[in-house]
Amino acid sequence: MRIIATKDYTDMSRKAANIIAAQIITKPECVLGLATGSSPIGTYDNLVSMYENGDLDFSGITTVNLDEYKGLTRDNDQSYYYFMHEHLFDRVNIDPERTNVPNGMEEDAEKECKRYEEFIKSLGGVDLQLLGLGHNGHIGFNEPAPAFDKETHCVDLTESTIEANKRFFASADDVPRQAYTMGIGTIMRAKKILLVVSGEDKAEIVAKAFFGDVTPDVPASILQMHPDVTIVADAAALSKIPR
Ligand code: GLP
Repeated sequence: MRIIATKDYTDMSRKAANIIAAQIITKPECVLGLATGSSPIGTYDNLVSMYENGDLDFSGITTVNLDEYKGLTRDNDQSYYYFMHEHLFDRVNIDPERTNVPNGMEEDAEKECKRYEEFIKSLGGVDLQLLGLGHNGHIGFNEPAPAFDKETHCVDLTESTIEANKRFFASADDVPRQAYTMGIGTIMRAKKILLVVSGEDKAEIVAKAFFGDVTPDVPASILQMHPDVTIVADAAALSKIPR
């Protein structure tokens, strides 16, 4: 596990974008696993600037997103489909046919999760998976649980996640209660993992996840077992790690 300490959110975003850019330049037909949330927005902005400056070509890449709320339509501005189009897909020369987000409108959870998992396998796996980190240690929507969930599955969101994400909705009641997410196994099969984290409110969970025990109570802690993980974190997020 490599930890890249950055000054602040701006610095974190620039460095994370450089790592993704290096992946695209060295393998123009790579599969990128993408994430939503406020943490990667700056990273996406930097990737868009590199594209606008003529330094990055997205035409060959395929993307698979980590997760999606169950029951939100694609045109709902809180859906992760909408988020990805707003922050990245509509701003670069990516082939929309090669962008993939779980289908939150598929009612049959088993069917959708199986389809998504098999689709990722059919691509030959993910070259680089981008992740954020939830306050309770969730990655994607893999919430603390008695065991690690291996494959793409449907989750009941925890109260703390609903609470954290309600800022984007009119009220907590409007936050969907379920989501589809890649499993921990799906994430761990990515060849490389890049996690971005910033802010003092994440400092405690950063220390727990990356310097504590590996446990399904803190889903991100499993990343300690992955052979190629880079964490790009700002000073505030690293303020509670053991020295
Ligand atoms: C959501 C997403 C996660 C994300 C997390 C943290 O629940 N499903 O993929 O990493 O929130 O979000 P933020 O970066 O806004 O703190």
